[in-house]
Amino acid sequence: MLYAAVASLFLASAVLAETPPGFAPNVTAHLDVKYGSKVVTPGLALTKSGNPGQYAGLPAGSRAVNLHGLITGYTSATTLTDGLYVLSSKETGPASYLAPGPPAENPVHPHKYIELLFPQPEGFVVPSSQTAAISKRIGFNITTFAADAKLGDAVRANWFTQQG
Ligand SMILES: *[C@@H]1O[C@H](CO)[C@@H](O)[C@H](O)[C@H]1NC(C)=O
Ligand SMILES: *[C@@H]1O[C@H](CO)[C@@H](O)[C@H](O)[C@H]1NC(C)=O
Repeated sequence: MLYAAVASLFLASAVLAETPPGFAPNVTAHLDVKYGSKVVTPGLALTKSGNPGQYAGLPAGSRAVNLHGLITGYTSATTLTDGLYVLSSKETGPASYLAPGPPAENPVHPHKYIELLFPQPEGFVVPSSQTAAISKRIGFNITTFAADAKLGDAVRANWFTQQG
């Protein structure tokens, strides 16, 4: 099965929701996420030093949703690794992954990073109405994206926080 993951949306702003309070979509199925060596439980506060990969500088001062990555082509392993079926993809887009890089702020402000997993429709391409939003990243609206792209509902989610 193919999946598309919208990795790490950054939101400025319980049956156990796996997405932050007030965030749409409200997903209740858990996505196991390991970030670096850390197992992510919903809302876990991670330190910057634990970030795998590179930092991406994003403008401070806005409390918009930023798209940190949209990766298609995930397939599931057929055998368990540490009790999990690991999803992997050879693809790096349509929007390559940018690691969190929240700016230092006073007062400190934990940014929310949300991982959403959607089933990938057959022949999926980013709809033309969304190509600009994907490349702009800032102010990304997952609700309109999912509707325009006919993604249906997110099937699993998780999130963590990080502050600069
Ligand atoms: C999310 O969905 C759960 C289960 O349907 C519900 O209990 C919870 O109130 C919802 N949360 C929000 C913020 O809508
Ligand atoms: C996304 O767009 C929908 C539909 O226009 C709107 O209701 C919603 O508030 C928007 N979400 C954000 C986070 O701006």
